[in-house]
Amino acid sequence: MTKRILVTGGAGFVGSHACKALAQEGYEPVVYDDLRRGNRWAVKWGPFVEAPLEDQARLVTTIKGFDIEAVMHFAAYAYVGESMSDPSAYFRNNVSASLNLLDAMAEVGIEPLVISSTCATYGNPATSPITEDMPLSPINPYGASKVMMEQCAQWYGETKDIRTIALRYFNAAGCDPEGEIGELHDPEPHLVPLVVQAALGQREAITVNGTDYDTPDGTAVRDYIHVTDLARAHILALKRLLDGGESAVCNLGTGQGSSILEIINAVGHEVGRQPKVINGPRRPGDPPALVADPTRAREFLGWSAEYSSLDKIARDVVNWYSNVLPRITSA
Ligand SMILES: NC(=O)c1ccc[n+]([C@@H]2O[C@H](COP(=O)([O-])OP(=O)(O)OC[C@H]3O[C@@H](n4cnc5c(N)ncnc54)[C@H](O)[C@@H]3O)[C@@H](O)[C@H]2O)c1
Repeated sequence: MTKRILVTGGAGFVGSHACKALAQEGYEPVVYDDLRRGNRWAVKWGPFVEAPLEDQARLVTTIKGFDIEAVMHFAAYAYVGESMSDPSAYFRNNVSASLNLLDAMAEVGIEPLVISSTCATYGNPATSPITEDMPLSPINPYGASKVMMEQCAQWYGETKDIRTIALRYFNAAGCDPEGEIGELHDPEPHLVPLVVQAALGQREAITVNGTDYDTPDGTAVRDYIHVTDLARAHILALKRLLDGGESAVCNLGTGQGSSILEIINAVGHEVGRQPKVINGPRRPGDPPALVADPTRAREFLGWSAEYSSLDKIARDVVNWYSNVLPRITSA
């Protein structure tokens, strides 16, 4: 029988790509999302339960009603800048509401859980690339909320048998290479879509936040990972847990850092036109460089990035913004 997987936040950017990967692997994703930041059109590979994590009773009836075998937990707030101005929202949603999910799983007796964590848990690490055993020392409430979420899951492992693989993504980017789904936030906080919009003339310019970092070109360096690679890692983690595997934590990144200017150049090259660039101040809470050591994901999950060159990321996002999204939003 087809295994049903509960996907919280499955109408969002990363969650919807994981749903496509689940369906391709023969699972049925059951999306649990209240669309506060997601898109109804992104739910297309299984049933949709429109409800908030805050409704624990609904989580329990959903897990029971669909005979769920495992959970992928994406639903959260995920913007560093917003977390600096509204920390309460981040701790309430990413920690407190996540506890409802853990309690619902414990009540029904579901053990396998894959959670979305982040490189923001490391803060501003002293050395690079970053390994999983380096200290967790977040410098913004978003990162702190994800450390707490990981710790909650770990303690539910000790006390309630829930087995969790926490995947610490570096910078999610790209979109479905087949153009079925992609990223759309309102407002859009992520760099690659903003650069693409600027290069396509859909926004006036791209603001570079900080040009005086101690990096090769002065702009912040990040490890950009294609969302299709992230989705593949979720499938591998899920299979491992369904086979009885133990809890673990893995970085998901390429091991290569790219500066903001390199992203702008890659997108400009793909579009055939460079966007207008405005130099702005650093954003509070932003570290200069975050680059993953992906060794553990390779050894533990058998995963490595395949789609994450800057050219591939730029190509897929440009296709999404110029060819697909206009059709979806005008329909
Ligand atoms: N995008 C990145 O670069 C990135 C990097 C590292 C980690 N992550 C993590 O990955 C996960 C997914 O990120 P994303 O970029 O897809 O975000 P997103 O905002 O696109 O998707 C999140 C989804 O969760 C839903 N949601 C949020 N809170 C909810 C609640 N309380 N109840 C029901 N639904 C709720 C939203 O409606 C949305 O559809 C998050 O946990 C985020 O912290 C993302």
